[in-house]
Amino acid sequence: MNKIFLLSILFLFFYSCEDDGLIPIYGCTDPTACDGTYDPNANIHVNDSCTFPSGDECDCDGSILDACGVCGGDGTGCEDCNGTPNGGLIFDECGVCDGEGIADGTCDCDGNVLDDCDVCGGDGSSCSSGVDYESEIQPIFNIHCDHCHDGDHNSGLDLRTGHSFSSLFQNNVIVEGDAEASNLYTRVESGNMPLTGSDLSESQVNTIANWINKGANP
Ligand code: HEC
Repeated sequence: MNKIFLLSILFLFFYSCEDDGLIPIYGCTDPTACDGTYDPNANIHVNDSCTFPSGDECDCDGSILDACGVCGGDGTGCEDCNGTPNGGLIFDECGVCDGEGIADGTCDCDGNVLDDCDVCGGDGSSCSSGVDYESEIQPIFNIHCDHCHDGDHNSGLDLRTGHSFSSLFQNNVIVEGDAEASNLYTRVESGNMPLTGSDLSESQVNTIANWINKGANP
């Protein structure tokens, strides 16, 4: 042994200490430690210094995880629509637990379907033009009415082709959309008109009612 060798050992010792930059401060590096030894400045973990919850416990107060995975919880709050904790079943859009929602082709939870007019549960009438005046209404007038209701009729009601539509409105015998309130309908429905000759058939009366109820369009 000589002095130079001893000096070299000393040098190496100090050099290595400074070189790794670590100053050993003892403490627990885990803030969840129960024993209060956590030290935010600690950079060396001394195994024995940290104690943690054990067994089923999830905190330092002895709480355990409930059925919902909540530490110390009472097991409520995670039930599915069947009441099963974390069961995962949900209500469908119709309010049925684990239901399949609105079925294909239906448009609401009552099983209604879209009609031809895209109305849910509709009867398909809302978008149809309804009864065609020229081909379905006027012929009734031509057969049963316009030999009396011509241009000179004392009621003023002219039911001839080309005149009838405007005359019906001029004489206020139509309430658009409401056959029951329309004089034209009540007269033929009661058999009051035609004044002479056979009454209109049921289907002719219905055609007039439909035409009025669907807006009395030309
Ligand atoms: C035989 C002739 C005759 C025939 C056919 C006839 N009417 Fe009349 N109509 C009259 C007379 C007359 C009046 C006026 C007296 C009255 O109001 O009852 C009248 C009145 C009416 C009125 C009331 C007019 C108003 O301004 O209030 C309506 C509506 C009417 N007829 C509809 C018809 C229809 C629809 C037909 C065919 C299905 C028809 N009539 C067939 C003779 C006729």
